[in-house]
Amino acid sequence: MPIEIAASILNADFANLASELQRIEPADWVHVDVMDGHFVPNLTIGLPVVRRLVRVSPAPVDAHLMIEDPDRWAPEYAEAGSRSVTFHIEAAKAPVRLARQIRAAGSQVGVGLNPATPVETVADLLGEVDMVLIMSVEPGFGGQQFIARSLAKVAQARAMAEGWQGPPAGAKGLENLKLQVDGGVDRRNVARIALAGADIVVAGSALFDSGDPAEEIRALRELGR
Ligand code: DX5
Ligand code: ZN
Repeated sequence: MPIEIAASILNADFANLASELQRIEPADWVHVDVMDGHFVPNLTIGLPVVRRLVRVSPAPVDAHLMIEDPDRWAPEYAEAGSRSVTFHIEAAKAPVRLARQIRAAGSQVGVGLNPATPVETVADLLGEVDMVLIMSVEPGFGGQQFIARSLAKVAQARAMAEGWQGPPAGAKGLENLKLQVDGGVDRRNVARIALAGADIVVAGSALFDSGDPAEEIRALRELGR
């Protein structure tokens, strides 16, 4: 399976989002970073904008919620039409219930881990989610340097999924669990990230700082093959 590219619009021109979406048309996902100024020291966009983005986006919306109270807000991002909704384990108060609510609202579910949060923190949640997002920068801003330790965390999450003691026979295992790496991804590290076991990489500044985001998406996909 070629690696999937989730294009983060954090570094796009927020005054021209519709046309910016067209520039990342070959992406597998449009990664929308929702920040509330509390969980992270930055404030971006919220529900009203996401509701509109899902209508015009060329690729399914992958909502990444860096917010203090996902238990309250995450299901609404699913109802808004996001194909996938990721909340952070550091913020969720009842992650199993929350994962089930997001799924019931019609979205895939992701759980995110900050760089200093061990992979073991989500061990008991793996059967409830479709994706684990491993942050490879401190969340909050685009354009930061990739934290190399994240590669070991990806490999560890993959091993954990493979060794997972699933529910009773007949229930679904973790073969389809996706691992996503977010932050500082570029041409120099995407092959190593793929090799560590990632299924999806998020790229923001690597795309929008280049003259041609669509071409950059294709290059990352090719290098991560
Ligand atoms: C950071 C966000 C990332 C960010 C990635 O908090 O979650 O999605 O936009 O941007 P780059 O690729 O520039 O690190
Ligand atoms: Zn993100």
